[in-house]
Amino acid sequence: MYKNVPKNKRFPMIVGNWKMNTSIETAIDLLEQLLDDLKTQPSHNIEVVVAPPFTALNAVVDFLYENSADGLIKVAAQDLFWEDSGAYTGAISGKMLRDAGAEYVIIGHSERRQYFYETDLTVSKKTQAALRNKLVPIVCVGETLAEREANKVEGVIARQIEEGLANIDIARLANVILAYEPVWAIGTGKTASPQQAEEVHAFIRKVLMQHFTPEISDKMRILYGGSVKRENSRELLTQTNIDGALVGGASLKAADFLGIIRNF
Ligand code: PGA
Repeated sequence: MYKNVPKNKRFPMIVGNWKMNTSIETAIDLLEQLLDDLKTQPSHNIEVVVAPPFTALNAVVDFLYENSADGLIKVAAQDLFWEDSGAYTGAISGKMLRDAGAEYVIIGHSERRQYFYETDLTVSKKTQAALRNKLVPIVCVGETLAEREANKVEGVIARQIEEGLANIDIARLANVILAYEPVWAIGTGKTASPQQAEEVHAFIRKVLMQHFTPEISDKMRILYGGSVKRENSRELLTQTNIDGALVGGASLKAADFLGIIRNF
């Protein structure tokens, strides 16, 4: 098995991906509940990030600035376009996300790949745009059920990493965060077993080491995503190569999301 630096050198992180959910009002309501709890019992050893829809992004940033100056919760966007400005109706650039106060941005989520025809090439362009605009990219990879059943997991993941992270300045690569999200486990209630997840995470480190450098492989945080819940989070998150979670459904209820954070 690939031996890496002690896990505690990579700062753990839990990201709540709210997807196309929440109004400004319900977003703030959810944040209030999260902050109430995190203020009484701060989780200093873990980075907590929420990814609201674009329409609530700035309201969320403002609310957190006024109510939690100590950065208990940070903010991610769910996507960006790769150009910084111009005639691209409907698109949101990295520059705009910085302006709205985001620090992170999710890129290449399987729902973007499935419904919006994103490819490894667009992932690479978006990752470059994020870094150019000083946003931390959270780049998603993961195989479909058909690919897993055809024993193609390693081939698919290696391709997504090599092509999705192509043309990135090597000095900036360690800042990129990866999220392994098996497509068959997203929103389905099916979770990869801790062993299945750990096996792919260890494989990802091997790809990073061979394709880039051992240092990048050691430093890069790799999150797991796909039906993470309070009940299954502890076993997943204590695996050697799993540095946190990207949580969809369970991030929409404060008690469920807090349960995952407390379980780490
Ligand atoms: P889920 O979504 O937790 O609802 O499966 C995870 C994700 O899509 O990031």
